[in-house]
Amino acid sequence: MGKTRLYIAALILGVMSATVACAGVEDGQKIYLKACKSCHGNGVKGAAMATQNGWDKWFEKDAVALVEKHKSDAKSAAYFGGPSFKNQMQDLHEFLKEYGSDSGNVPACG
Ligand code: HEC
Repeated sequence: MGKTRLYIAALILGVMSATVACAGVEDGQKIYLKACKSCHGNGVKGAAMATQNGWDKWFEKDAVALVEKHKSDAKSAAYFGGPSFKNQMQDLHEFLKEYGSDSGNVPACG
């Protein structure tokens, strides 16, 4: 009886953490479509702008490199300099890294 319960508990935990991991990526994808798609194309194309390590670099230190990169473009500078980007950065990072050019992943979170 003890073993069955443990097994079921492990199963539930596994399902829950898979859902949580997917939720971050899904949120990031929504944000990408709103904030980046108009200039960089769909999510697959955008994520392929960098490798998985590359995305870690772009988002290092509050994404300072990414903010710099968009400073000369008035439209995107407003977003990158504003509070929404700060709140959405984490989800964006997760999404873009998940599908980075060397990830071998294709969007599968619905
Ligand atoms: C209004 C247009 C616009 C929007 C919106 C925009 N970008 Fe950009 N992005 C640019 C421009 C212009 C460049 C500079 C291209 C260059 O320097 O050659 C750029 C460059 C980049 C680069 C560097 C590419 C490279 O290899 O040098 C990355 C990464 C990037 N953007 C990611 C994003 C992400 C992520 C978002 C959404 C959060 C976003 N961009 C939103 C216009 C935009």
